[in-house]
Amino acid sequence: MTAALDKDLVGLAPLSAEQIRLILDTAEPFKEVSERPIKKVPALRGKTIVNLFFEASTRTRISFEFAEKRLSADTVNVAASGSAVQKGETLVDTARNLEAMRIDMVVIRHPSSGAAEFLGRRIRSNVVNAGDGKHEHPTQALLDLLTLRDKFGRIEGLKVCLVGDVLHSRVARSDIWGLLKLGAQVAVCGPRTLLPRRIEELGVTVFEHVADAIQWADALNVLRLQLERMEAGFIPSVREYYRVFGVTAERLEKAPRPLTIMHPGPMNRGVEIDSRVADGPHSVILDQVTNGVAVRMAVLYLLAGGKPELADAAKRGGGPGGPPD
Ligand code: CP
Repeated sequence: MTAALDKDLVGLAPLSAEQIRLILDTAEPFKEVSERPIKKVPALRGKTIVNLFFEASTRTRISFEFAEKRLSADTVNVAASGSAVQKGETLVDTARNLEAMRIDMVVIRHPSSGAAEFLGRRIRSNVVNAGDGKHEHPTQALLDLLTLRDKFGRIEGLKVCLVGDVLHSRVARSDIWGLLKLGAQVAVCGPRTLLPRRIEELGVTVFEHVADAIQWADALNVLRLQLERMEAGFIPSVREYYRVFGVTAERLEKAPRPLTIMHPGPMNRGVEIDSRVADGPHSVILDQVTNGVAVRMAVLYLLAGGKPELADAAKRGGGPGGPPD
């Protein structure tokens, strides 16, 4: 039997390897839509999607909006500022009022871990987590997986190291789940103060020195140093961090083979990553962004009831699950 998604996408932890592969495989035919002069297919025509962003975002918000528009859904963007949230309305009341206007899906980014799941349990519409607190950022991990699969032709057996502020990173959590489920070897590297306690119990290797991670890995996913949280004294200084954990061209020259360089963005150049690395020949950072649109199209299409085997047909003009019309 073909794998299917549940009502909501709240994280990669609850997904099976088959469900993750289903999303990645469904994203493949959607890549081509973004390369056309007219970037639009009618797969979600008539569906209404609300993007509820209660936290800052550039890539994820715009990528979801492009994905929705390229599938011909009707979209509405709601930010916390300027909405009734500022007057004290709860998340559930906001969503229920939106549902009263007959919406089909909610894409939510929220500063609280668990917000997407909380909402999904209380409304009928499909809910997609676009990042909740320090919990998960599933579509970021899916686009990371798609980018690695494009680059290496496989995920199984790959050695991927997440470098930096793992403690505060929802991307790291989703990446770890996704990579392990698809059979990759995963490591983390960073100051102990920025690694969750007992992270080894998830099945990941811990490197104390970037040089060791560089010797081991096929790909580095460099995480943003969450500067807004650094007042709490997690590191002595940003300069010190760059000196000890920065992914620099000099360090990468010592790698036994060219390492693929990833970053979820937004980047702090000269803090966690050297500009020569970010813009270098082995960086796939902008490929990640490109793949984000296809992955989000796949997630929305599948949650709307689209049949994976008909994604190719949908790309040519069919609705979710139906033949081309
Ligand atoms: N990667 C990511 O989530 O970026 P934004 O915060 O800009 O959406």
